[in-house]
Formats: sequence, structure tokens, C-alpha cells
Amino acid sequence: MCGIIGYIGTKKASPILINGLLRLEYRGYDSAGISTVEKNGLSIMKDKGRVKNLYNLKGIDDLDGTIGIAHTRWATHGKPSKENSHPHMDNSKSFSVVHNGIIENYNELKNFLKGKGYNFYSQTDTEIVPNLIHYYYSKDSNNDKYRVLRAVQSACKDIKGSYAFEIISKYMPNNMIVVRKDSPLVIGKGDGENYVSSDIPAILSFTKDFYLLNDNEFAFLSKDNIEFFDINLNKIDKKIDSIEWNASAADKNGFEDYMLKEIYEQPSAIRETIGSRLPENEPCNFEDLNFSKEFLSSINKMYIIACGTAMHAGLTGKYVIEQLCNIPVTVDIASEFRYRNPIIDKNTLCIFISQSGETADTIAALKLSKSKGATTLAISNVIGSSITREADYSIYTHAGPEIAVASTKAYTSQVTLLNILAIYFAEVLESTSKDIITKFKKEILELPAKVEEALKCSDDIKDFSKKIYQEKDVFFLGRGVDYNTALEASLKLKEISYIHSDAYAAGELKHGPIALIENDVTVISVITDENLVEKTISNIQEVISRGAKTLVISSLELPSNNIDFVINIPHTSVFLSPIVSIIPFQLLSYFISKEKGLDVDKPRNLAKSVTVE
Ligand code: F6R
Repeated sequence: MCGIIGYIGTKKASPILINGLLRLEYRGYDSAGISTVEKNGLSIMKDKGRVKNLYNLKGIDDLDGTIGIAHTRWATHGKPSKENSHPHMDNSKSFSVVHNGIIENYNELKNFLKGKGYNFYSQTDTEIVPNLIHYYYSKDSNNDKYRVLRAVQSACKDIKGSYAFEIISKYMPNNMIVVRKDSPLVIGKGDGENYVSSDIPAILSFTKDFYLLNDNEFAFLSKDNIEFFDINLNKIDKKIDSIEWNASAADKNGFEDYMLKEIYEQPSAIRETIGSRLPENEPCNFEDLNFSKEFLSSINKMYIIACGTAMHAGLTGKYVIEQLCNIPVTVDIASEFRYRNPIIDKNTLCIFISQSGETADTIAALKLSKSKGATTLAISNVIGSSITREADYSIYTHAGPEIAVASTKAYTSQVTLLNILAIYFAEVLESTSKDIITKFKKEILELPAKVEEALKCSDDIKDFSKKIYQEKDVFFLGRGVDYNTALEASLKLKEISYIHSDAYAAGELKHGPIALIENDVTVISVITDENLVEKTISNIQEVISRGAKTLVISSLELPSNNIDFVINIPHTSVFLSPIVSIIPFQLLSYFISKEKGLDVDKPRNLAKSVTVE
């Protein structure tokens, strides 16, 4: 997905911008570019392809400007090409703009500008922006220092859609303007210099002090100062936020790939998620939540809404909340939820899960729930992300930056947090006995060690990956929460190994999917629930008798049978088991991807944070 970097200070901007873009590569992109303010006007260097290609562009070393904007593009309007890459300039080459988001009424605005004599050279929606700014700038006769800002504000009033813009201009050679609506943008404050980015990790090595822009807020930056304005250009004060993440936490730390590093970080990520939320002999402590018994008793229905892996985490959330709190929970895919008419009212609690906190569908679903009167609670990994600013309440997974596109540690942290949240609700509601809760808390505290133990299956999994990496189809089976794990395992495999896979609730097999089972097809099952072990085993026998090759991941003693491979993992209580049982599957996808020589961290066609619909 598109990424944004900006720099304003006293150092040469171009290397800082390119380095920042390299840090954004994990988001996925198809082209990159920078624009700087030079003595003789604005420069633009851009091309399709990798960020590092920018180093080879003729003239890049001659750029001396100390103010600049930069962008990685992930095509939405127009194919990946040099012309469609950002930054974009207006016809008079006075304004340079980068943009994340989508301008919905760009055709209408383009026709308007064409009527005024403007020409267009790209297929993008963004190219209208510098021209629209030029149009309003030309109409303003007041030549004070905010003339460009007023032009930007007028342009924003015309634009429908989502955007984070960075704007530089030859008419304000010592300033930069940024504004956002429904697309992420942060400003990092340095000493005599300031940074802008769509992602905090990209500029974490420069500063830990950030201003988080809200929708429709403008920032007017110089190297020493940042002025903030609301939608009507009234000055506003903003408080600075300090981010605890360490810049080195965003590096690979000696691992070959970010994904492997993040898989191995899970014991510590889960420890961070638990944090001080489970104090000994005391109720669960969520410093950011203060739900009363009266409020929670008024909730007669919950929704958990998310996309992809985060939605799979939500599936286990449903099991545990329903069991401990006796409140019905529906899990919904955000992109489906937002386009139907969900039955929601003030007695509904809607929980939104998003690692990035910037997923467009999840944010839209949140806004819809709020408009229908529900109480909204965001679970995110990114402090200050859009979802957390929209929601009534926010809690964080604290898993640290997740860079690899395929989500691993965010998932296990989300499932951990949902379990703790269920305990919190149950304690407030007094809906589960103290003994059960005490036992459950103890199991949560043991999770990091169990995940550590599960990681030891790495060599066996690597061997197995060598046997199946050339397969065309792989099937995953599970029952109960093990079905949730099967779904997540299947998604992981598809994403990074490009092998077709499907996950089925084991009991569904004979209602159709078993028709796909033939000689030598690989079927991988997960069994962690002692109440369901026999049922799943009999489904496995059904596929064995049709010639399938079988692997079972299990935390239980299995009845002796003719399964081809069994990998044992530590046992834990049923609602926590997806946290432990997903580990071999994450490793399996990783090793298969490596065996196939694929780019594990940046799988094709995927983006880390899906900020457009
Ligand atoms: C899968 C994956 C995606 C994300 C999904 C939601 O490995 O990474 O399925 O889980 O795009 O992203 P967030 O959690 O940022 O809302």
C-alpha cells in the first residue's frame, strides 16, 4: 500500500527520503519517487520499480534541497509507470504533491480543471491535486505566508474520498503542508528538523516524539516550527506523543527475514500483551477500560469485526467471550459487515481488531457501528492509529512493529488479548466462577513458555516442508477452535507460498469437500481439544482411506492409527490453544516459501496495510 515520507530541516533531504522509503517497502508498492525544493525550483525524481532504483536516477546526487516529500505507490488509478508515480506536479511546476488514499470525485474535478485549461499527463487521481491547488492559489490576491495553505484548504473542500497529502511549493521554499482525511499521517518532531510519515516505524530512528494528525487537520511545517489548523484554518494546539518502540525493534535482528524474526518474537510479544493486565490475586487490569457491571449487563450482543488474520483471531474471541460471559458474539468480515444492515443498537458492543489500525474496511465498519449507537472498542497494535482514534475505547496488543506482510505475532497477541478481555468482562459481570478464572489466568501466564516450546518443532516442520512444497493443493481440517487455526493456517500458506489451500471444519468434509480428496493429496489437521479428538480422528481416517497424505499437529495423545506424520505441541486450555497450535503452521508456510525461493516478507499482490477498499 502507498507510503509517505517527508523531511524539512538543514540536512540534504534526498538520502533521508530514500532511506525512509526503504523502511516503507514492507507495505508493498510498485513505484517510488521524491520531490525536493531546490534553489532553482522544485525537482522530481521518480520511476516504477524498487526504491533502490532511485539511487541510479541521473541527477539524484545533485539534489541539495533540505525540504522534500517522497512516496511509494501501490497502483489504484492507472498502471504502475513513471508517469503515474508520485510526486505529481501542477502544469506550472509550482506545487509538488504526494498522496495516499483515493479521490472519489477525481473525474469530475479533472473535467472542471480541463475546462480551465489544465492538462493531465498521468492516469492518476492525484494529479488533479497540485493543479487544483494552483487554481485556488492563482485566485487568491492576499500574498501572505499562508496563501498556499488557503489554496490547499480550498482544494480539500472540493475533494471527496480519502487522503494524506504532503505538499511543497516554490512559493513557500521554507515550508511544507500536510493534511489528512481517512488515511494515516504522523509528524515526527526533531531538533531543528521535522519528519512526516504514513508509518511511525519509518521515522523511528530519527525521533520518538510524534504529533498524530486527526481527520481534516492541517500542519504548516518549517524546520523549527509546526503550526496546526482545523478544517476552517483556525489554529489548534496538539499534544506530542512519545512512542516507546525502539528503532532496532523494527530491524531484522540477525534473522534472514522479518517473518521468521516475528515468528520467534512471539513469546516476548505475548509477554508484552499480558503486561500488567493479570495482577496476582486481583481482578484483570485494563487501565484504558472502565466498564461498569451496569454497562456490561446492558450489552445483549457483541460483534467482533476485522479482516483476514485479525478476523481469524476474532473467531477465537467469540468462543471465549460466549463461554465466560454468556453473551452472544457474532464475528464479521469488515468488508461484508459495512455493506449490509447489521442489527445494532446502544445495547451492542462492537469490537474491532486491526494490527495496523488503518484497514479501510474495518474503519468504515467502525464508523457504521458508531452511527447506529453501538459502543465501540478497538484492538490494535499501533498506538494512535486511525481505528483507535475513532473508537470509544482502545486497547493495544503491544506486540511491537510487525513488518512482514504475513501476520504472525500480531495474531497470537490478538488472541491472547481477546482471552484477557473475556476474563475482564467475566470478572466485571461475575459470570464465571473465581476458580475457573484463576486457573485460566495461570494458563495465560504460561503461554510464552509454551509458545517457546512449540517453536522447537522447527526442524521437523522444515523436513516436512521439503516433502510438500511442490504440491498444488493442501487441505486443513479442525473442529472447534482448531477450525479457527485451520483457517489461519490455510491463509498463511496461500499468502506466502502461493499454494492453493482450503480449510474445512472437519465435520463438513462429507458435505462436499471430500470429493476433492484423491491419492497423495496433503491433508493437515490440528487436534487440541480432548472433547473432539475422536471425531476429528475419524474424519482423518476418511481421507486416509481415500489415499491422502496426512500430517496432524496435536497437543494430545492420539489413538494409534496410520497417520503419516504427527507433530506434538504443548497442551493448554482450549481457548488458548490457537496461540500455540498456529506456530507449526506459521513455520510450515515460511519454510515452503523459502524452499520455493519466494519473497517471504513481501508476497506478490499483497500489502501490509490495506488502507483502501
Ligand atoms: C494476513 C494478513 C492480513 C491482515 C488483514 C487485516 O497475514 O496480514 O490478512 O490480517 O489485512 O489487517 P489489519 O490487522 O492491519 O487490519
